[in-house]
Parts: sequence; structure tokens; C-alpha cells
Amino acid sequence: MALPEKLVDEFNALVKNYPAGKEGKRSGLIPALHRCQEELGGWVTPEIMEDLAAFFDLEPAEVYGVASFYPMFRLTPPGKHVIKVCHNISCDLVGARDVLAKAKELTGAEVHGTSPDGKFTLEVVECQGCCSTAPMIDLDNTFHENLTLDELERLIGECQ
Ligand code: FES
Repeated sequence: MALPEKLVDEFNALVKNYPAGKEGKRSGLIPALHRCQEELGGWVTPEIMEDLAAFFDLEPAEVYGVASFYPMFRLTPPGKHVIKVCHNISCDLVGARDVLAKAKELTGAEVHGTSPDGKFTLEVVECQGCCSTAPMIDLDNTFHENLTLDELERLIGECQ
């Protein structure tokens, strides 16, 4: 089993938050996918999906169906640094497209891809709740708001 015991314990506690029975238990799948991605290298491996299927009484294809539907789940390993650029309306109005273009140029990564050197994965995300301080990115789980292109260049340079 690829699923660490620590996460199995966590998921056993998690499913108690949902109605009893098979259908209720399945409600824990999305939070479990998030936790697996957080804890196990930033992506969801086929082995983990099989283990989650067994845990949640699902077919592996059903877990794959959920994990592949939502763009927040990665099915391939990310680069060393993950840059998420918000492209929703508030950020878009104040330069998100320029931020994204600059991030692509500086990292060599395409959107939802990883740079050839494996250092950066670049993603676009929906509103992160920082509309009043747009534009923003999330770099390795830290928000950077009121972002300028110079600041973006500095941040990426620090990661190089
Ligand atoms: S639109 Fe970008 S944080 Fe809300």
C-alpha cells in the first residue's frame, strides 16, 4: 500500500464527518486527494489512486475520474517550485496576462507544464480571494499580492 498509515488514520477520522454508509464515506474523497497531494510530493500517483479507491469503496477509474476532472489535482510530478497565477477578473483587469506572459518567459514553462530544467511548474488558478490586492500569484504556497513584473522577476530569480 502506497498510502501512509498517517493518512489512513487521518481519513478514518475524516469520514466520520460525513453521513454513515458507503455514499457518505465517498464524500471524503476530494479532501483526501488534497491531503495526498500535499503530503506526497505534490501530485497524485496511480498507486495512491488505487489505495484511495480501496479505502473509499470505489473503482480506481472513479478516483481517476475525480482527480482528472479538477485542475487543482496534478497527475504528473510538479517542478521544484510551483507558480500559480490567478487569472480571474480582478487580477485580469490589472495585469494578470502580463504576469503570466512574464512567468512563462522567465521560467520556460508553459501553462500547466513544467520547465525543461524541472525547476518550475506554472499553473493558472481561479480567484484566490485577494481581489483587492490584485494581481497576485501563489509561489510555493505563499501569496504575493500587488505583484509587479519586477517583483515577479525577483521572486523567480530567488528560486533559480
Ligand atoms: S481575481 Fe485574482 S484574487 Fe480574486
